[in-house]
Amino acid sequence: MKGPMICRRRGPVRGSIQVPGDKSISHRSILFGALATGETRVTGLLDAEDVHSTRKAVERMGAVVRAEGNEIVVTAPERLQEPDDVIDCGNSGTSLRLLTGVLSGLPGLAILTGDASLRRRPVRRVVEPLRKMGADLSARAGDRLPPVVVRGRQLQGYRHVLDVASAQVKSACLLAGLFAEGETTVVEPAHSRDHTERMLRGMGVDLRVDGLAVTVAPGRPKGTRVDVPGDISSAAFFLCAAAALPGSKVTVRNLGVNPTRTGLLDVLAAMGAKVTRANESVVAGEPRADVTVEAAELRGTEIHGDLIPRLIDELPVIMVMATQASGRTVIRDAKELRVKESDRLAAMGETLAAAGAKLELFEDGCAIDGPTPLRGVPVKTRLDHRIAMSMAVAQLLTKDEEVQLDDVSCVATSFPSFFRLLDEVTGGGR
Ligand code: S3P
Repeated sequence: MKGPMICRRRGPVRGSIQVPGDKSISHRSILFGALATGETRVTGLLDAEDVHSTRKAVERMGAVVRAEGNEIVVTAPERLQEPDDVIDCGNSGTSLRLLTGVLSGLPGLAILTGDASLRRRPVRRVVEPLRKMGADLSARAGDRLPPVVVRGRQLQGYRHVLDVASAQVKSACLLAGLFAEGETTVVEPAHSRDHTERMLRGMGVDLRVDGLAVTVAPGRPKGTRVDVPGDISSAAFFLCAAAALPGSKVTVRNLGVNPTRTGLLDVLAAMGAKVTRANESVVAGEPRADVTVEAAELRGTEIHGDLIPRLIDELPVIMVMATQASGRTVIRDAKELRVKESDRLAAMGETLAAAGAKLELFEDGCAIDGPTPLRGVPVKTRLDHRIAMSMAVAQLLTKDEEVQLDDVSCVATSFPSFFRLLDEVTGGGR
């Protein structure tokens, strides 16, 4: 899946599907497994480029990651070794920021870099708090951008009070805390995804949660079993398409429904879509369910505050869906969207406006007035998988027009089977 692609499918979307494993949980299973005593056995791991970046990084530091039947088995060395080359995190911010936390507390020199998109993304947010723990690290452009250079050394516990709700920053600090002297606390302004907390506790780490504060004591995790549920950020493309396209109904089986991730389901319900859950269970500390969304007359809604971190990665496709809702949808407090794989507010704002949406952009969000029919447009995907997939959904909302994506190779970072599944739910394309 490389280069340009012309999308010309037709809705409605119907069917029962499974989406690939959760990206955040997949990264963590490999990285934490590489720190642990004993083996970590993972089922349902996401097989996509971002997770390969984490895997290659830990292999470079001496961990062994192998397939055994339907499991991926991670075995750590006695202590992770100094990497013998620059670590290339590709497109993956999670790999780069979490590894920066780990490497801060390990002896040796490490250099972390990534592709053109990742090298435009901020790292001061991890550099500054880790320095407060005694870490020796620096980054390009006055510590703002990758590459990041880390010289591991003995760290001290610290009480961090973050000004952005970021699971990557929180996780980098907590992971550094595993190697520190004394306890490390991270206080967030709102709850970001808590997969790190759940998994580390499952691995026997002394970790306490008190409201918005998480405290970790130093120690080595113990190998465990992880079963990765489907990624709600990948399911979002199908769930939003189903909500907006008359006659649609889609079930996503075994979908991760950790409450720190289900803001999208709340928004779908608030907009009037029919959302149901069945077969709810909790496996390896992570809740999951079969989630069904049925089309309905959608109405505009307001999305802001503590809801934002619970659906941050879904906002591009929520913007697409909002063009089909009657009335105004307002998104606020979402400035973080500007520092993802691309500036997603600018990218989606400009592209949807060109496609005929009535949209006003703010520094921290946008307002969308609907419903408006969408037209086929050429799309610059900007090395951003979620822009590509969101605009493939937008094409379904046109009257049989084409959307030309200039480069879809980015989709392989999180969801290599996306276009095949989209064909499946639309009846094989046309
Ligand atoms: C992630 C955290 C979020 C999210 C990203 C994955 C994680 O980023 O957008 O896709 O796995 O911790 P931030 O921590 O920058 O909010």
